[in-house]
Amino acid sequence: MLTGGGDCPGLNAVIRAATRRLVDGGAEPVGVLRGWRGMVEGLFRPLDLAAVSGILPRGGTILHTSRTNPFSVEGGVEAVRRSFEQLDGLIAIGGEDTLGVAGRLHDEFGLPVIGVPKTIDNDIAGTDRTFGFDTAVSIATEAIDRLHTTAESHDRVMVVEVMGRHAGWLAVTSGIAGGADVVLIPEFPLTVERCAELIRARHSRGKDFSIVVVSEGWPLTHEAGAGEIATTNAELDAFGHARLGGVGQQLADALEQITGFETRVTTLGHLQRGGTPTAYDRVLATRYGLLAGELALTKRFGLMTALRGDDVVPAPLSDAAGKLRTVPRSYYALAEAFFG
Ligand code: F6P
Repeated sequence: MLTGGGDCPGLNAVIRAATRRLVDGGAEPVGVLRGWRGMVEGLFRPLDLAAVSGILPRGGTILHTSRTNPFSVEGGVEAVRRSFEQLDGLIAIGGEDTLGVAGRLHDEFGLPVIGVPKTIDNDIAGTDRTFGFDTAVSIATEAIDRLHTTAESHDRVMVVEVMGRHAGWLAVTSGIAGGADVVLIPEFPLTVERCAELIRARHSRGKDFSIVVVSEGWPLTHEAGAGEIATTNAELDAFGHARLGGVGQQLADALEQITGFETRVTTLGHLQRGGTPTAYDRVLATRYGLLAGELALTKRFGLMTALRGDDVVPAPLSDAAGKLRTVPRSYYALAEAFFG
């Protein structure tokens, strides 16, 4: 098994559960280090019960991770195919990019792959939920709660920038839980002017502070139109992604200028991905890991684990390919009901 892409709380819980199921089924699990890079370079380590003992509550991944894309490394796919000769199958735990590679290796080369969807962004199609999201929501909600008290003391506008490259799940969910006064997400971009109007409306009814939650993937949008998505490094990674970040500061500056209210910004960044998973994420990750181990034992490849309603089920890997699960209007409306 390997873990690829950005880490998230719960990866170790999947590794532990899959290892347990595989060992119990008489298999010899192997960890591939550093995501797809480990398949290109042949970086393996044996996994047994001792190796996964005590890792359930630990954040990060004992297998390490990378954003290597074998399809953009010269000779990468051939090297991955050679690594597969040493394996009966591969459980790839990752987000859209890692699962996209897994799907291509299965569809184009018939390689025996099983996917497990992870990301704090919760934007993978084909599953109702990814593990890691619940933990990130808890961290962001706690941050909003803490910012509330200091915002209120100083009569300030507090802008909180959360992760969410393509989808606003994290912003909307922590915004609902934390009582945000405006939430800005890529799916339904409000303008800065409308945001300022909502804040002014609060002030005119005696609320001298406001909390604005913004997704890193929301482009600064004025009435005149949307700007570029803010990046801290515009160079693209192996999957074609720029490093996002910075829209919170842009928004804070624009709001302060329009409203005249003192505004501060907090960017939560990788704090949202670190630390111990919540009980919910540990359980979901464990369910995914056990099912992935079972699928490997029974040689059912080309599938991924998915949450559908309350059930964890196998689903075609292709369900996750080439599309994203974005926030529906009805869910955003729950946050919107409390704007201003
Ligand atoms: O995709 C998950 C994610 O956390 C995004 O929300 C964010 O843009 C990105 O990863 C950050 O990745 P990195 O760890 O490379 O900074």
